[in-house]
Amino acid sequence: MRTKSIEASIAETTESEHQLKKNLSALDLTVFGIGVIIGAGIFTLTGRAAADYAGPAIVISFAVAALACGLAALCYAEFASTVPVAGSAYTFSYATLGELVAWIIGWDLLLELMLGASVVAQGWSQYFEVLLGHANISLPAAVAPGSRFDLAAFVLVAALTILIAIGIKESMRVNLVLVALKLFIVLFVIVMGLRFVDLANYSPFIPPAQTPASGSAGVLHEPLVQTLFGINPTTYGWGGIFAGAALVFFAYIGFDVVATTAEEARNPQRDLPIGIIASLVICTVLYISVALVVTGMVSYDHLNPKAALATAFEDHGQNWAAAVISAGAVAGLCTVVMTLMIGATRVVFAMSRDWLLPPWLSHTSAKTGTPVRITLIIGTLVALVASLTPIGKLEEMVNIGTLAAFTLVSLAVPILRKRRPDLKRAFKVPGSPFVPWLAALAAVYLMLNLSLETWMRFVIWMALGFLIYFLYSQRNSRLEKHPEETGQVHGQPAVGGDW
Ligand code: ALA
Repeated sequence: MRTKSIEASIAETTESEHQLKKNLSALDLTVFGIGVIIGAGIFTLTGRAAADYAGPAIVISFAVAALACGLAALCYAEFASTVPVAGSAYTFSYATLGELVAWIIGWDLLLELMLGASVVAQGWSQYFEVLLGHANISLPAAVAPGSRFDLAAFVLVAALTILIAIGIKESMRVNLVLVALKLFIVLFVIVMGLRFVDLANYSPFIPPAQTPASGSAGVLHEPLVQTLFGINPTTYGWGGIFAGAALVFFAYIGFDVVATTAEEARNPQRDLPIGIIASLVICTVLYISVALVVTGMVSYDHLNPKAALATAFEDHGQNWAAAVISAGAVAGLCTVVMTLMIGATRVVFAMSRDWLLPPWLSHTSAKTGTPVRITLIIGTLVALVASLTPIGKLEEMVNIGTLAAFTLVSLAVPILRKRRPDLKRAFKVPGSPFVPWLAALAAVYLMLNLSLETWMRFVIWMALGFLIYFLYSQRNSRLEKHPEETGQVHGQPAVGGDW
């Protein structure tokens, strides 16, 4: 239950061994947010969620997920403006709910960010294959997406790892170009697609609820809420809308990652809330518009569950438009993988600076101002998971990890207000404690709409986290070894030379 004082967290950011460059403006942060938010979710999940869960009412699912994210975003914004330290939710909770909860959140965030990067890298590789197909190039079957070794996903992650290690400002420049391209593609879908909307495709807007075809689902694939409370069925109808929301939640993940770069912001107290909220609002408007257009273009039961955005245009004989969209997806998904990986490195960085993970990891290179060791380790892990594992439907795992972190962060807001009313808060959640409680409730409700199988995998991941915590982190924690630390940092850990 020991907590780390906020002053101590902030003081550590100035230790030269562990210092990150303060480079980013409010615009950089918003671009960073959009760069990570718009990705595999809108490009691939929209079709599947509409076809399998909600029909045209997937538009409502996007709104429901946005509402849950908006509530959580307010809580993240308050924390980021109060505790502008790398590590996002992990650092916030260390200051409020204690070390064990902080560890749990850090562990959840790693699930979100590393697995998220791997899932999106695989999605990228699928679009890349489609694009190569347009150029009449085909990859050898042994290294194609879906084979034993996904070469394209591996090469992508390796290249991005090098870029991130070179420096965050450089990564941001590449990001800016790719985000502009991605926004253009999304607007292209909306504007070009409007011409092909047929109002008949919107009826029924909420298709009548159905019991899933026998054999296709099974209890493991049912949402937990259905297993627990017997609420059924969740294909179409209102049940389907919520199950759809729990799935397309993936498309919004990323605004919270903005908070992981807190130490690299020039004016974090003002700019972080702007970056978090602006990127979420922009993406919500775009997503709802895309969902409306795409379900208007093609009847929901004919939507392609893999690449609905591109194939909706093929269905109307617009192959050139489909090619443009695939190319945009290839560029756009790159930034998502990169940003999720940057987020993961910053979370490990914060955990290692607290000695919950080995301290030599958080050493920053004097030349690049980035934590090169962590970057290489995370890059290797993501590359291996992305290229060697059949990820399939694991985006649900990413969602559950993220929602668990949202729940704890939301609950922590009123607690920190009570414990430390004196802290300067540049941004405050209106209506606390009710709005933060509502945020937690919304996150838990979406979690309950995820499948039993996902819950079981999540429990295993958490058990592994507890094992590491009690075997290593609890004993080696900086607060364990130096409980007297309040802000003045003594007893630096042994760190190695520069890279
Ligand atoms: N929101 C990100 C995506 O949809 C993770 O790819």
